Amino acid sequence: MKNKVEVSAPGKLMLFGEHAVVYGKPCIVTAVDQRVRVRAEIHGGKQLTIDAPDVGVTRYVQDMNKLGEGEIPKGARFILAAIKKFAQSWEIPTGLKIETKSDFSAEFGFGSSSAVTVGVVKALASLFEVDIPKERLFELSYGSVLDIQGVGSGFDLAAAIWGGTLYFVGGGKEIVPLKIKHIPLVVGYTGIKADTATMVKRVSRLHDKNKEVVDSIWKTMTLIVMRARTALETGDDKTVGELMNINQGLLDAIGVNTPELFDLIGAARSAGAYGAKLSGAGGGDCMIAWTDEKNPSDVVNAIKKAGGSVLNVNCNAGGVELK
Ligand code: PMV
Repeated sequence: MKNKVEVSAPGKLMLFGEHAVVYGKPCIVTAVDQRVRVRAEIHGGKQLTIDAPDVGVTRYVQDMNKLGEGEIPKGARFILAAIKKFAQSWEIPTGLKIETKSDFSAEFGFGSSSAVTVGVVKALASLFEVDIPKERLFELSYGSVLDIQGVGSGFDLAAAIWGGTLYFVGGGKEIVPLKIKHIPLVVGYTGIKADTATMVKRVSRLHDKNKEVVDSIWKTMTLIVMRARTALETGDDKTVGELMNINQGLLDAIGVNTPELFDLIGAARSAGAYGAKLSGAGGGDCMIAWTDEKNPSDVVNAIKKAGGSVLNVNCNAGGVELK
């Protein structure tokens, strides 16, 4: 057993296939170099202390044998779920101190909850010197997230674990790292925080009501992901952009576009982006534009002019790692 460890896990951006992936279809996700840092320390006694100031948690204290009982601050839920999940497989014989810190705001939709969940499980494994393969780390992290959210494909956890850019099939049925030549993305933030679970439930109602119609959208999205995978691997920017635009049309069709996303996406396209779409659940958060690598400044300026802020991120970041 070590005394303390520090790990970091990356956030993510969905490139293709959001929502369809919840229905067992494939998507493409890339890890971004905005990371969540988790410090885990052995603490005398039998208490757990959590400090996660970025999500409003300061000195949450609970008995280790009463994990999950009583009122749990929202920002501590994923941390606690991850500790509980770990403790179901390996005994935690001591008290613990967990601190988290994020490079990015939880508002952006980069997946701070998934990065923190992966970070906590990995930190505990390292603290108690348990060898934990990526697949097992995914299984435990996915179980923790489902305990809290009840829904989700797990794509964000895979990005936090494997890093890079992944072809991912809903629930983790297939996780394939892709070799992508370059990712010339401009990321625009609408300034509106979206709630993923709400959007997923809204799409689920649409699916229940119009099953065959929405299933055929998932079929088309699957084709888009397959073609996008090849276009990304061969560096065919024009095709990547076109496929982003088609993907966006289908996301609009299932009702997750917003006027703000529409404006930023339109501005990016008019300024010469190869293509643009929302990224993630929709309802707000971020849009992405595939640009000419040499000169993305027209697209950057257009997004700003349309009311968005441009986030400075690099894609293909490394997965969870010990500091
Ligand atoms: O809102 P985000 O960035 O967490 O993305 C959600 C993507 C969905 O496909 C809508 C949900 C999921 O778990 O895959």
